[in-house]
Amino acid sequence: MVGIIPEDKINEIRQSIDIVDIIGEYVHLKKQGRNYFGLCPFHGENTPSFSVSADKQIYHCFGCGAGGNAISFLMDIDGLSFQEAIIKLAEKTNVSLDIEKEAEVHTHEPKANIEKKQMKAAHEFLSKFYHHLLVNTKEGQKALEYLLDRGFSKASIEKFQIGYALPSWDFTVKLLQKRGYELTLMEKAGLIIKKENDNAYFDRFRSRIMFPIQNSKGETIAFSGRAIDQDDQPKYLNSPETELFNKRSILYNFNRAKGFIKKQQQAILFEGFADVISADNAEINNGIATMGTSLTEQHVQLIRRMTDSVIICYDSDFAGIEAAFRAGNMLTEQHCHIRIARMPKNLDPDDYIKKYGTEKFRQDVIGNSLTFMAFKMEYYRLGKKLQNEGEKLQYIEKVIEEISRLEKAVERDHYLRQLADEFSISLEALKQQQKQAYYTSKRKNKHQTEQKPKQLYIQPDGRLFPANQTAERRLLAHMLQNAELAFKIKDLLNGIILYYDEHQAILTYLLGYYEEGNEPNTSKFLLHLPDDKLRRIVTELEMMPINNEVSDKEIEDYVNQVLKHQKMLKIKEKENLQKKAEQQNDLKKAMSLAMEIIQLRKSL
Ligand code: CTP
Ligand code: MN
Repeated sequence: MVGIIPEDKINEIRQSIDIVDIIGEYVHLKKQGRNYFGLCPFHGENTPSFSVSADKQIYHCFGCGAGGNAISFLMDIDGLSFQEAIIKLAEKTNVSLDIEKEAEVHTHEPKANIEKKQMKAAHEFLSKFYHHLLVNTKEGQKALEYLLDRGFSKASIEKFQIGYALPSWDFTVKLLQKRGYELTLMEKAGLIIKKENDNAYFDRFRSRIMFPIQNSKGETIAFSGRAIDQDDQPKYLNSPETELFNKRSILYNFNRAKGFIKKQQQAILFEGFADVISADNAEINNGIATMGTSLTEQHVQLIRRMTDSVIICYDSDFAGIEAAFRAGNMLTEQHCHIRIARMPKNLDPDDYIKKYGTEKFRQDVIGNSLTFMAFKMEYYRLGKKLQNEGEKLQYIEKVIEEISRLEKAVERDHYLRQLADEFSISLEALKQQQKQAYYTSKRKNKHQTEQKPKQLYIQPDGRLFPANQTAERRLLAHMLQNAELAFKIKDLLNGIILYYDEHQAILTYLLGYYEEGNEPNTSKFLLHLPDDKLRRIVTELEMMPINNEVSDKEIEDYVNQVLKHQKMLKIKEKENLQKKAEQQNDLKKAMSLAMEIIQLRKSL
């Protein structure tokens, strides 16, 4: 499976990286005992069951079973081939790979992958070209002036590779064609559009300011083009959904912001990418935005991997407030701490920063953001006439319902007091009503969401397994730690095949691995396993706490447990045969089977 990169190179690279750093770029990890824990990036979860071992240089998720080493992590999370993952890791080390990157990557690559690469290359090429048109040419001058007038800095224009597409119907088509890109593929990439009645193509983006959109790896995968003239509609034209671009899972600037988000343990969520760019120019580097869609569960998961603290900084118009309410609820559901930043009516963050400057934005908008509860208290007020007795009571009821969702008693108390003060109601009465609201919603929830048991590939708790499975797992776990012991166990098993096929496969690979002269090293051994299922079991076994100083007696007990199970199976088989023989009146055969069964039982 190793391919053209020599194995010693791979090992050198493996040894000079630390899996905690590699995974740390994608997952917020917290140290707990010997291992690190975080939220699994491979499945949605709220409590961390994803663990990384620095000692063993492996990871394993007890929730979904994902597991492997740094190489397989990059393969899975970034969709890389083995070779690409190695190349990426090599870039982080001093190890040089003397291979032709291009030639090597293209061997045996599926067509779909090659197509995706070409689509990305076209985006990369166009974003450079559009940028060049904007900053260096007469054609782009008007667009550049518009941007500078609006307050975009030159540095931002550089950093975000903002560009300009000419007001031509076929400039991009011709350019791509000249560069050797296949036009059918470029249409698939959303860059050009096919005319309905003949085979010609035309440019999707014409006379627009071009904002490249990147995925979380930093690859350009789409564009958003802003009209320059007011009457040009729509204001923003985005790439369509393509194989590369899925609005529901892309967050603008996530690639640049993710490190800052993790370091500061906070993300700022904006409505528009112009806001993100403005904020970035004001040295607020942890800003991200959805691409003209409302927040989705995928977005939430992406954010949640980096931090559990989010400031929502949406426009202060009606739509913005509604959207902030919705996004806040979604994030709270995933156990995020939310604050809501507010601005004067009719200003968005971008306008605000340009009008009042960075400092005021930091202090008055970000610094004065509301807790989600305080925001909700304002939200439910909207459009209500609180002088009206009926509407006032409705409002209070709604707020009490929200208060009863708060986890902390201190917080509940705080907001109840606030209500009591504002509406001159006794605190006692409010508290009583809040308790009622709590029990009512608890009853409701119980009916709605009976927790489904998680579908686990492997039970995280060894004791839940049948005895023989536990025995096999323990044996393998010890064999993974100690080569000498591995061969001893092999002898004790004396040719007996483990009951679980996967276990037997791991055993066979492991003995082969040791026979080649390798030392116990899980991260390295994983490279010798051809199958994801086996890798998952190995990482899980490795994360299992076992006693390193195991006694001979303990090992023998495990082996006996395995042998016993095999004998039990044999007994069952013979009992069936015996029954059949009796039914066929073959008493002689039935007798002899009965004898065999007795012998087997004795040996248990
Ligand atoms: N948007 C879009 N299509 C539109 C309008 C908006 O996709 N026709 C998306 C864009 O991603 C934009 C976001 O919605 O960034 C917010 O829209 P809006 O508030 O109207 O844009 P601004 O960020 O304020 O942009 P500008 O200041 O350039 O008007
Ligand atoms: Mn704006």
